[in-house]
Amino acid sequence: MPSSVFLLGPGFIGGEIIDLLLTTDYNVTTLVRRESAVADFAKLGVKAVIGTLDDASVIKTQVAMSDIIFHTATADHLPSVQAILDGVRQRGQMGLHTIYIHNSGASLVADTSAGEYKSDTVFDDEKPFQIDSLPDSAPHRLIDLAIVHARQELAAHAKMAIMIPPVIYGVNTRENRLSIQLPTLARYSIKHGYAGQIGNGLSVWNQIHVKDLARGYMVLLHWMESTPIDEVAKNPYFFCENGQELSWGQCAAEIGRILKNAGKIGQSTPKTIPEENYGDLFGSFSGVVVGSNARNKANRLRKLGWAPLEKETFASLAEDEIPIILQEKGEFNGYASVVAS
Ligand SMILES: NC(=O)c1ccc[n+]([C@@H]2O[C@H](COP(=O)([O-])OP(=O)(O)OC[C@H]3O[C@@H](n4cnc5c(N)ncnc54)[C@H](OP(=O)(O)O)[C@@H]3O)[C@@H](O)[C@H]2O)c1
Repeated sequence: MPSSVFLLGPGFIGGEIIDLLLTTDYNVTTLVRRESAVADFAKLGVKAVIGTLDDASVIKTQVAMSDIIFHTATADHLPSVQAILDGVRQRGQMGLHTIYIHNSGASLVADTSAGEYKSDTVFDDEKPFQIDSLPDSAPHRLIDLAIVHARQELAAHAKMAIMIPPVIYGVNTRENRLSIQLPTLARYSIKHGYAGQIGNGLSVWNQIHVKDLARGYMVLLHWMESTPIDEVAKNPYFFCENGQELSWGQCAAEIGRILKNAGKIGQSTPKTIPEENYGDLFGSFSGVVVGSNARNKANRLRKLGWAPLEKETFASLAEDEIPIILQEKGEFNGYASVVAS
């Protein structure tokens, strides 16, 4: 019988994962908060359960019926993670095994450079102690810690992993959804008439195309399916980056070049964004989300045979993402969801 999958957050990241799951033999159920999404998923052969991340009983019940869980809705919602863990615990009591892969984000390893320098610190997913040494106050860390701690308690029944993506770029296949950080900087630039950066724009993040990330998720899933629990339990952390690091200043300059060519802004050279405008980015999180260093190496996925295949960030911005952003209507007032990356 095909394994049953429950995926929370069928958006930009989760939607790509669902598409890949459907190309192989999985029964997929997803959590949707919009009634209108139910029929769309039914057409794909995906069962949609209506609920929000705060509907603990809906989540727990669905997890209890599922062999594999993905949580890609947000890296910042502890109650939904606790509901998943409750469901995994219930399955354990019934003698059932579960795989749970959680989507975190590289803000976890970000610093406070705010664009002023490129850091020498590079996190390596083969060195979990680097991540385990982070303060509990690091972005996403309290949520990730719930999983890290539950791993020991549920060790006999569950394999759990935490994916930590960097800047994700690209357009997702079915819904033309865009990512978070670079689209927000592009929308800011259109609104304010210049390419903006935090501080001097010198800090760097790694990059990954959303389709390469989704393939990374599949490689991770198949490894977890075929690897003994004890081996999986040794290290929960996986990065997923394509080998390219870009400074926020480089990104701002490229956004400026594309928008100037499109006649949307007068000058392409980036300017520092004043703090009073952070409301048009990510509020008080702006310095971290689009101004920090978050350097990391996806050594583990590469050793499992994964390799990035998609076009690089700037080609994607010019050919795929900014053309969509240029069609957007309505006033832009900063990234609207809970800030997380
Ligand atoms: N994109 C990145 O660059 C990036 C990088 C690192 C980490 N992350 C983390 O990954 C998360 C997801 O990113 P994404 O780009 O895939 O975002 P997205 O496109 O907004 O997808 C989020 C999905 O979760 C659903 N969702 C959100 N809140 C919900 C709630 N309260 N109840 C039920 N469903 C809910 C959304 O439903 P709707 O379809 O109704 O909107 C959507 O399907 C981010 O929030 C962040 O924490 C993202």
